[in-house]
Amino acid sequence: MSRTLEAPVERVTIPMLQRWKQDGRRVVTTTAYDAVTARVASPVVDVILVGDSVGNVCLGFDNTLPVSVAMMNHHLEAVARTRPRAMLVADMPFLSFHLNAEDTIRNAGGFLQRGADAVKLEGGTKRIEMVRALVNCEIPVMGHLGLTPQSVNVMGGFKVQARKADDALRLLDDARRLQEAGCFALVLEGIPAELAARATEALTIPTIGIGAGPACSGQVLVLHDVLGLIEGHRPKFVRAYLDGFKLLREALSHWAADVRDGAFPTAQESYRLPESVGHAIAKWTPSKPT
Ligand code: KIV
Repeated sequence: MSRTLEAPVERVTIPMLQRWKQDGRRVVTTTAYDAVTARVASPVVDVILVGDSVGNVCLGFDNTLPVSVAMMNHHLEAVARTRPRAMLVADMPFLSFHLNAEDTIRNAGGFLQRGADAVKLEGGTKRIEMVRALVNCEIPVMGHLGLTPQSVNVMGGFKVQARKADDALRLLDDARRLQEAGCFALVLEGIPAELAARATEALTIPTIGIGAGPACSGQVLVLHDVLGLIEGHRPKFVRAYLDGFKLLREALSHWAADVRDGAFPTAQESYRLPESVGHAIAKWTPSKPT
C-alpha cells in the first residue's frame, strides 16, 4: 500500500483544501498552543488549530467554557510568531460569537490580525447568522458540529451525539446550512462513523473528523493526545503514538536524581574563569562591615 507521508512544502491554503477534497487527499490537523508545539507540528500537519481545548489541556480547567478571547489571543500570538507553514485556525471561545455580529466580527478579525488564516466556531443553525457575518467580512470560517464541547452543560457531559434519527437528520441539515453560509470546512466531533460518512459524501467542503470514524476528509487530534501527554482516562477515539507523560516524568526524575547525587552539572557543563581571575578570587577576603 502506498502512503502519502509528506506534508506540502508550501503554505497550506483554503483553495488547496477544496482541491484535496476532490482529489481524496486527507487533511491532517492537530492543535498547538505555544511556539514549541507549533514548531513540532507545523512541518508535519496541514492545519494547526489553536483550540479552546487549551483550557482543559494546558490551563487546568475542567472544560473549555472559562477560555476567553484574551487567553486565545495570548496562545494564538505565540503560535503565529513561529510563522507556521500549516494553515493556522483559531478557535472562537464561548461567548465570543454569541452576542451580536459586531462583537463576533471584532473578535474573529482580531484573530486574523494576530496571524490566524481562519476561525473555527461551534454550532449549527443557531450560529448561521454569525457565520454569514464573518464570511461577509472575508473571515474564513470552519464549522464544528456533533459533540461541541462548549455545549457540555446542554449535552449533560461529553457524550457521542446524533445517534437518534431526528438528531442525525438535524446534523446533516446543519452541515448543509453551514456549507451554504460559506464555511470552508467542517469539524465533525463525537458522532457515529456512518453519519460522518454520509455528511462527507453529501458536502463539497472537507470534513475533519475527531471521534467520527475513518470516512471524513481528514482527521484532527489534540497534539497532547497524540503524544500521550494527558494523564488518566484516554477516550476510545484517541490513539497515542508515544507514552509522553511517562517518558517526560522519567527524564525529569533522572535529572532530579543527578542533581541530588551531584552528578549534574559536570565540568563540561560549567563555565570557567581565566586562571588569573581564579587567583584573584582565591585571595579575596570579605571586607569588614563599616
Ligand atoms: O479545541 C479543540 O481542540 C477542538 C478540536 C478538538 C476539534 O475544537
